[in-house]
This record gives sequence, structure tokens and C-alpha cells, in this order.
Amino acid sequence: MKIAVLPGDGIGPEVVEAALPVVEALGLPWELRFGEIGWSCWRRGGDPVPEATWRLVEESDGGLLGAVTSKPEREAQAELDPELRGRGLAYVSPVVQLRQRLDLYANLRPAADFLGSPPRFDYAIVRENTEGLYAGFDVADVHGELWELVRRHPNAARSGPEGVRVALRLQTDVGTDRILRFAFELARREGRTSLVVADKPNILRASGQHLRERLALVAPDYPEVAAEVQNADAVAMRLVADPGGFGVVVAENLLGDVLSDVAAGVSGGLGLAPSGNVGERWSYFEPVHGSAPDIAGQGVANPLGTILSIAGLAEHLGSRDEADALRRAVRTVVARGEHVTPDLGGGATTGQAARAVIAALG
Ligand code: NAD
Ligand code: IPM
Ligand code: MN
Repeated sequence: MKIAVLPGDGIGPEVVEAALPVVEALGLPWELRFGEIGWSCWRRGGDPVPEATWRLVEESDGGLLGAVTSKPEREAQAELDPELRGRGLAYVSPVVQLRQRLDLYANLRPAADFLGSPPRFDYAIVRENTEGLYAGFDVADVHGELWELVRRHPNAARSGPEGVRVALRLQTDVGTDRILRFAFELARREGRTSLVVADKPNILRASGQHLRERLALVAPDYPEVAAEVQNADAVAMRLVADPGGFGVVVAENLLGDVLSDVAAGVSGGLGLAPSGNVGERWSYFEPVHGSAPDIAGQGVANPLGTILSIAGLAEHLGSRDEADALRRAVRTVVARGEHVTPDLGGGATTGQAARAVIAALG
């Protein structure tokens, strides 16, 4: 199998380099092919995902990504090669590009408790990955019908069209049904009997009602799974205070982004959290964390989120036993606490922590 490896920037290359030896240690039948992605591609070439990387991805069976920097528009323009400025190039986060262009609609973010013994919880967040506030309707030029709509708000009327920006949360039948089905299928496959859809139906009345209606259409196909919509803010609180009861949590894009970082914080920190971006034809896995500029270059980034992402990719591509073995090895290393990085209270380097996992594989 051909695997596209995209280390990215910041701590991305550090965690990927440390984590990759587990592929050989497990004997996975993967041919690794490396590609460029991220901030330096933007600065040099005006696109954080170069054409060669799209080709690499197309020719692969799956991908592993480290981390990439995404800066706001003004900083992005300021750091662009002077030769490329003024050409109307706009920075779009490379991970959002991959998810949108390849229609990787499901973002799977398992939340297993790595700190508690015995583990206090083990659930999965399924984040919609293509719509919501990430759909691309983040509008600076508010005029015409859109202005007629938003001027009803007194602050908009007082600010005028120049003083208003609008971000639209897109929610469709197609996008909603497939993320719900993905979540139910996951629950069924893993024997999970509870599915919570985290949303704000009491405030976002039209889209919230739509979500409830689509859930009511899909849920009867999965009678063994108890499903309900709950308020996302209350879900966030319960993920911290009482996470034991969750099986699968589903949320639209931005809510899922936030909730999955909450889950990561409770599970053992961002350095441990894995994720997968799954579509019909292709998928790539990556740690939930970003490029962590505050610790990049110091050799102390936790590689375990990347290693658990390799486990996710292995499972997705059919190597279930290897994935389980890898997860057990990570659990052993965290429980022993001898070879963990500073974010987990240890003194190990990125490489030492990864080698400890390989040693624990036996
Ligand atoms: P971040 O995840 O990079 O860092 C948040 C905090 O967690 C930092 O204190 C960092 O040191 C720590 N941390 C993260 N990963 C760690 C690891 N493996 N080991 C130890 N500590 C770790 O989030 P941020 O600071 O909000 O964003 C930094 C940059 O990364 C931004 O440009 C952002 O857009 C980007 N980002 C990229 C991705 C991605 O590539 N998928 C995800 C999130 C953020
Ligand atoms: C994530 C990240 C991304 C997101 C950023 C880097 C675009 O935070 O994968 O959770 O917001 O989805
Ligand atoms: Mn995030």
C-alpha cells in the first residue's frame, strides 16, 4: 500500500520522523512516499498544498500528516515571497483544502482516557468536516440580499455594510445524513450504544431543527443505538465533569473542533490526541495538535498523538491487530511514565518517547 506522508512544519516533521519507525516495527505493508505541505510552501510558492502533493495524494491509498501552520490573512500576506505579492493569492489552510477538495467528510477523533487507571472513559467524537462555518462563506463584502438580511440586526444597521462581516453555517441534507450515518456505523461497529448529537437547537432554530429531523430519519436504521440531540455547551461541561457515559459524540464542524480539543485536554493533552479525516475514496490521519511554534525545534514534542494516528490509519486500512498492539504499547508507555515528554510530566525527548513505544511492542 502506498502511503503519502506529509510532515508539514513546526513540530510536524519532528513527531512524524520519530513516529514512522513504528510502521516497520509493526511490519505494516506500507510504502512511504513523502510530500511537502504547509507554511514554507505558501511562502515560497503561494500555495500551501503544491501540485506535486496533490498528485502524490491521488496516487496513494491513504495519508499521514504531521502538522501545519495556519496564520490569519494579514500575516499570511506579509510572509509571502515579495515576488508573489499583489497577485491576489489567498491563503487557505492546507488541512481545510485537503478535507474540502477530497470530500473527507468525517473527522474521527477517538477520546480514550490515557491518564486514569482503570480508564474512566472511552468514546469517539465524530466531527462533520466539510460544512458548517468551515464551508467557505465567510463574507467580507456584505451587500445585496445578504445586507438586506443582516441589516435587520440593530448593530448591523448602525455599523453599515462596510462595518459588517458575516459567516454562514452551512448545513445540508447530504452532509448531515452522511455524518450521522458514519457516526451510527461507527457505534455499531464498536458496540457503542449511545450517540449524542451536540448542537444548539434552542438558539439555532432552523438548522438545529433540520439536524433533529435528519436524525429522526436516520436513527431508526440503528435501533440498538440510543441517539439524542443535546446542547453543545452542556456536552462540553459533561466531557470534563462526567465523560464516562459517552459512546459517540457527533457535532458540526466548528463545535466538533472545539469539543475535540476539550476531550483531548481531559484525555491526556493535545500531544496524545489522534484523528482521522475520512472520505469515500481516500483518508488521511493526523494528530489533533497543530505546529506548536512555542516548542518547535526543541525535540520535546509528544509523538504519541502521531503514533496513535498511525494506529488509526492502520485500522482503517485493515490492519486491526497491528493497530490494537500499537495502542496497547502507547498505553504501557504512558502508564509507566518513565519515557514520556514534558507535556505528560516526563523528561523524555520526542525520539525517546517513540522508541519506548517500539520497545513496548516487544
Ligand atoms: P497547537 O496545537 O499547535 O498548540 C497548543 C498548545 O499545545 C501549545 O502550548 C503546544 O506547545 C502544545 N502542544 C501541541 N502539540 C503538542 C505536542 N505534540 N507535544 C507537546 N505539546 C504540544 O495549537 P495553536 O497554538 O493554537 O496553533 C499553532 C499553529 O498550528 C497555528 O498556526 C494553527 O493554525 C496550527 N494548527 C494546525 C493544526 C493541524 O495541522 N492539523 C491543528 C491545530 C492548529
Ligand atoms: C484541527 C485544526 C484545524 C481546524 C485548523 C488547523 C484549520 O484546528 O484539525 O482541529 O480548525 O479544523
Ligand atoms: Mn482544532
